[in-house]
Amino acid sequence: MIQLPKDILGLKELSAEQIQHILDTAVVCKDIFKRDLKKIPTLRGKTVVTLFFEPSTRTRTSFEIAGKWMSADVVNLTVSSSSVAKGESFVDTGRTLEAMGVDVIIIRHSLAGTPKLLADTVSAHVINAGDGAHEHPTQGLLDLYTIREKMGRIAGLKVAIVGDILHSRVAKSNIYGLLKMGAEVTVVGPPTLMPRGIEQLGVRVEHSLDAVLNQVDVVNILRIQLERQQRGYFPTKKEYSKLFGVNMERLSKAGNDVLIMHPGPANLGVEIAEEVSVHPQSVITEQVTNGVAVRMALLYLLTGGGSKDEILH
Ligand code: CP
Repeated sequence: MIQLPKDILGLKELSAEQIQHILDTAVVCKDIFKRDLKKIPTLRGKTVVTLFFEPSTRTRTSFEIAGKWMSADVVNLTVSSSSVAKGESFVDTGRTLEAMGVDVIIIRHSLAGTPKLLADTVSAHVINAGDGAHEHPTQGLLDLYTIREKMGRIAGLKVAIVGDILHSRVAKSNIYGLLKMGAEVTVVGPPTLMPRGIEQLGVRVEHSLDAVLNQVDVVNILRIQLERQQRGYFPTKKEYSKLFGVNMERLSKAGNDVLIMHPGPANLGVEIAEEVSVHPQSVITEQVTNGVAVRMALLYLLTGGGSKDEILH
């Protein structure tokens, strides 16, 4: 029986077997989308709290849907109107939630390492929903799931991750996950947005998108973090788009069955053209759907779920 760690803090800490186990469990969870009534008793009596110190649409909502479909009690703690706003320390907030008998805490924070600090403080399971530029493990898992679902495998595929690698927790989780599952990874972006020494993780570094587009099976396009634009990592959005934006002209130069991915939210017309985002080769919508299945699988496995055959009964 493959066991997961108490907390899901990053894909760096998971083995290929553990990742495969989560993806296989998510396949069963995804079956729920075929049902008229999407409610199963699997997590009845379990309590899940989302604690987001940064904005989110996809991650927070999909965790809430995943929990509710499995009959868990899901509480969204609104940080701005919680006692955090009155100066309560982060650790105290964790202990307070623990005292209420919470089973799983899902946390997003702008500071890398915050989920680990919480996980070391409480006995509840902690899932990292994105911490600074460190990791976004559930995004990495849903990306792996989508690639495997669409391409039938991950091992041996060539994947390009394009954009702001320096600040991207999505890039880090994808790199760890893809390499463990046997893919070849090329990171593409301007030198100013490339972490020094990133090749030591086992990836290839490229600064020309046009040089790699026809060599890869998957292009995962990262959001340009416009909030950092004033620091001058690239001259203008127009310049960035010209060099690294995936538009229809660039798509036509890629392979006919190349998979186009984006974690969202997208800056349409900057890193990805709107026509590309809705092109038949784009799986952006499927990524969102698969996010629910992957998060259902994680909630099930972390809270003591055993065989995946028991999930939907
Ligand atoms: N991909 C992602 O994390 O999206 P949200 O910020 O909407 O959760």
